[in-house]
Amino acid sequence: MKRSCYCVEPSEAETGKEFTLVGWVDTRRDHGGVIFVDLRDRTGLMQVVFNPEIQREAHELAGELRNEYVIAVRGVLQPRSEETVNPRLPTGTIELMAHELEILNSAQPSPFAIDDEAQITENVRLRFRYLDIRRPVMQRSLRLRHDVCRMTRDHLNDAGFLEVETPMLTRSTPEGARDYLVPSRVSPGQFFALPQSPQLFKQLLMVGGVDRYYQIARCFRDEDLRADRQPEFTQVDLEMSFVESDDVMEVVESLLKNIFRDLRGLEFASDFAFPRMPYDEAMNRFGSDRPDTRFGMELTDLSEIFSASDFKVFRAAVEAGGSVKAIVVKGGASMSRKEIDDLGVIAGELGAKGMAWIKVNEGGEWQSPIVKFFSDGERETLTSQLGLEDGDLILFGADRTQVVHDVLGGLRTRIATARGLIPEDRFDFLWVTDFPLVEYNEEDKRYYALHHPFTAPKDDDLDRLESDPLGVRADAYDVVLNGVELGGGSVRIHRADVQQRVLAMLGIDEEEAREKFGFLLDGLSYGAPPHAGLALGLDRLVAILVGTDSIRDVIAFPKTQKAACLLTEAPSPVDATQLRGLGVKLDI
Ligand code: AMO
Ligand code: AMP
Repeated sequence: MKRSCYCVEPSEAETGKEFTLVGWVDTRRDHGGVIFVDLRDRTGLMQVVFNPEIQREAHELAGELRNEYVIAVRGVLQPRSEETVNPRLPTGTIELMAHELEILNSAQPSPFAIDDEAQITENVRLRFRYLDIRRPVMQRSLRLRHDVCRMTRDHLNDAGFLEVETPMLTRSTPEGARDYLVPSRVSPGQFFALPQSPQLFKQLLMVGGVDRYYQIARCFRDEDLRADRQPEFTQVDLEMSFVESDDVMEVVESLLKNIFRDLRGLEFASDFAFPRMPYDEAMNRFGSDRPDTRFGMELTDLSEIFSASDFKVFRAAVEAGGSVKAIVVKGGASMSRKEIDDLGVIAGELGAKGMAWIKVNEGGEWQSPIVKFFSDGERETLTSQLGLEDGDLILFGADRTQVVHDVLGGLRTRIATARGLIPEDRFDFLWVTDFPLVEYNEEDKRYYALHHPFTAPKDDDLDRLESDPLGVRADAYDVVLNGVELGGGSVRIHRADVQQRVLAMLGIDEEEAREKFGFLLDGLSYGAPPHAGLALGLDRLVAILVGTDSIRDVIAFPKTQKAACLLTEAPSPVDATQLRGLGVKLDI
């Protein structure tokens, strides 16, 4: 039997016509005499009726059907009787009266029901991912991901970009994570690294005159995993020649607008541009370089007020060059002591040494373990600076400024989520710009690039590269959506001499630079055009469109938090001969 169409395609207007449908048995109900089967394919369900009075053989065979059997059915479309109409299904007013049934395959009982309501642990879903993928929610996610890729390709093709593939077996690219290594059999003792991103190759494509490149590229990073991080993930990666940051931002912005317009029905005014916020402002107001601007609860800097306070913890933080900042939780004074203590635990996990708090109770009474240390003047200034009202809860951070930002920025989003302060169906796009070029690592006693070492310093700051590295801003930009870093990019260094200076400032001497990226430095010396680019995290983009917190939900075969594939049981040991062939000895 040859399929005539997908399950949800026949319409009420086509009753009386014959169709052949194929798919899986979603459910079978035997109503003493008549058997009803919900037939499922990737489009949805069609009710199939087996009536012994219409077709005895088909009805008899239908008695053997179990859930997830694979079948083909030929029959005639008819309206459902009134009592069996199901308004929740697109095909809820029609059904197929079966004339012929073929069982194409049987199936063991599934470990879970194939529907969206089933409460299944993620490990079971991942172990039986092929069954999980049959669920409508997964079908929708994969289709949406496909739509995003298709629209991305169309958009970038129209804008003159060429899709070029770059190698998977390559040298280490410094994106800041650990590499996945692949031993070479042909060159024993030597390793390829899987790319953390196509960064160096796309720059060399610009040297090669490709002018506009893109790739839906797989990237590999051996880092600590979270809900929005996978060891293997996908970027929409692009690079452009003879452009400035604004040109890249414009391409990305129009791509994202198209995607959200088509796939989420968002409307953008013709003159709407994503707001831009300098890094310093993002950190000061939100304690994060990927601020969620859908709600308030911004940080207030109180360092000045407390620089001479009797409360030693606060004064000491300011004296040591750090900060005292606070957030105000409206209505938070109703929290119990336990709830506040729990926040303190979260603050600790975020790096805080303590979390001072004040409840402003009805009638303006302050309740707090630290209130006794505050002078009247401090109380007054706090009240006006924080715009305090009865019912407020104030949470303080006092530490190195970076720690204060991490703690209060983290608390801010946790509290907003827990208290339902984040409006639904709102999409706050934001460009974060003017990043510092480098940050200082106390442990290693050296500077690290905030983006990567090929990011160009702003022209105006070039002179200060050696004298004031921390004051140098990068010509870099991140696109942020609802507090998620969706993508990052920058103008690149296109002159070998500037690249050498930046590498030197990062403590990478000429010998190391030659060894690690001599090929890039060479490339830059053969007439590299000015160039800039960006990469979007495709998995994160699709996750936001789908409305899930975990990018695992939008990847067909993801890995667990422990970087394992439960389906294939990878990684796995390999046999000794294979290792010998590679010249690899284990030491574990
Ligand atoms: P970056 O390292 O910022 O930049 O990565 C770009 C985007 O990729 C996504 N992303 C991830 N998604 C899932 N799992 C991960 N482990 C993961 N790591 C990153 C994020 C991030 O914003 N070569 C540069 C881009 C450039 O400069 O053009 C780069 O890779 O959404
Ligand atoms: P202590 O003097 O250590 O007992 O702290 C008094 C109050 O200040 C307690 O509520 C602590 O949680 C809080 N606290 C201590 N250290 C910090 C800090 N670095 N930032 C914010 N609050 C703190």
